[in-house]
Amino acid sequence: MNKPVLWITRRLSDAALERAQKDYDTIINWHDDPPSQEQIIAMSAKVDAILPCHSEIFDRQTTEQLNDRLKIIANHSVGVDHCDLAALAQKGIRVTNTPDVLSDATAEIALLLMLGAARRAVEGDALVRNGKWETWSPSFMVGKQVSGARLGIIGMGRVGRAMARNARGLNMEVHYFNRSRLSAELEQGAIYHDTLDSLLPDCDFLSLHCPATPETTGIMNAARFAQMPKQSVFVNTARGALVVEEDLIASLQDGQLFAAGLDCFVNEPGGNPEFAKLPNVFMLPHIGSATDRTRDAMGFRALDNLDAFFAGKIPQDLVA
Ligand code: DGY
Repeated sequence: MNKPVLWITRRLSDAALERAQKDYDTIINWHDDPPSQEQIIAMSAKVDAILPCHSEIFDRQTTEQLNDRLKIIANHSVGVDHCDLAALAQKGIRVTNTPDVLSDATAEIALLLMLGAARRAVEGDALVRNGKWETWSPSFMVGKQVSGARLGIIGMGRVGRAMARNARGLNMEVHYFNRSRLSAELEQGAIYHDTLDSLLPDCDFLSLHCPATPETTGIMNAARFAQMPKQSVFVNTARGALVVEEDLIASLQDGQLFAAGLDCFVNEPGGNPEFAKLPNVFMLPHIGSATDRTRDAMGFRALDNLDAFFAGKIPQDLVA
């Protein structure tokens, strides 16, 4: 029997590519340059399945031009905001994602950003690195203490809960806002808020862990930053679209926020050069899930979903 033809749009981990090549007739983008919309449309006529990353956009316009041969998009990401799920469902194309396997790695980066922003990692590193460290005093490089402080989490899904676990290790008091309240077993003592109005005043630190949807786009704006305590710290490892970046910049400039730690931006790749002018922003290039172990796990999970689909079963991570 012929193997299904699978297009892998980016360079996945070696282990994931090796497994894919055994089980599928693969077309692999070894050069790893992001495909254009025209390439995506053209490739859909040649393959039964696509294994893309969040860097490939399946908006309505693209989706409507996809060839009927394409049956499934097995994403190598937990976020699916790059996919118009309604348009893909109308086309009869199934869509899966890779939840669970990247939660710990992403929460690790959130922890790094929270600590780095609070303890002025960017400024401190620059001083030492550039040979500009010429003084020391008790008033030098004073930051915000994380341990024992209050952490607010927006979105208490798998990544949010992994971040809450990290925070408990620092003896932080965890508060959260979620669509619905979690069971006591999942809450692990975290304090539920049924509105952002209630959550934000209790956040010495705030970390975003919710998906980008039409409802959550721009949820962190000037009015929301103003509800946080003065000199609080903001962390985003979820999606840039959740934040009105000009409002975040203004809040960092006027001292409403002490610092921010950002792994996600409205424009990716590239980010927002205005953030680079601010010493109180600790930034990374969307690498929340970028560890060797997690990359293998993401690739395998996407392939598990494809294997189930082509075996006539329902993939475990079906989102459309
Ligand atoms: C995800 O899985 O959504 C991460 O942002 C990496 O793509």
